[in-house]
Amino acid sequence: MGGAGALLRPAALKLNQRRDITSWLARWFPQTPAKSVVALKTPIRVELVAGKTYRWCVCGHSKKQPFCDGSHFFKRTGLSPLKFKAKETRVVALCTCKATQKPPYCDGTHRSERVQKAEVGSPL
Ligand code: FES
Repeated sequence: MGGAGALLRPAALKLNQRRDITSWLARWFPQTPAKSVVALKTPIRVELVAGKTYRWCVCGHSKKQPFCDGSHFFKRTGLSPLKFKAKETRVVALCTCKATQKPPYCDGTHRSERVQKAEVGSPL
C-alpha cells in the first residue's frame, strides 16, 4: 500500500522541481530582453584609465551612471552591461540616454527631440 505511493512520490517530486526551476529561470532570465530606459539626458564625462576594463550600463537602471551597478539583473531586464577596455587614459563623454549609436560613447543623440521628449526612467 504505502510502498506503491512511496515509489510514485520521487517522480512527482522531480516533475515539480523541474517546473519550479523553469519558472525561476523564466523569471530571472527573460527570453525577450527589456528595452533600455533613459537614465539621464546628458552624457557624463569621466576619465578612463588606459588598460582598465569598464562595464557601461546598457539598461539605464544603474544608480552609478554611466557604469553598471548590477541593477539589470535585479530588475530582470535580460540585458547585460557593455564591457570595454580603455586604450588610453583620457576624458570621454559616456552616454546616459542609452540611445547612442556608438556605445558607450556619446554621439549627440541625447539632443534629439525623441530623447528630450522622453521621461527619465522610461524606454524610448
Ligand atoms: S545596471 Fe544597467 S547594465 Fe547593469
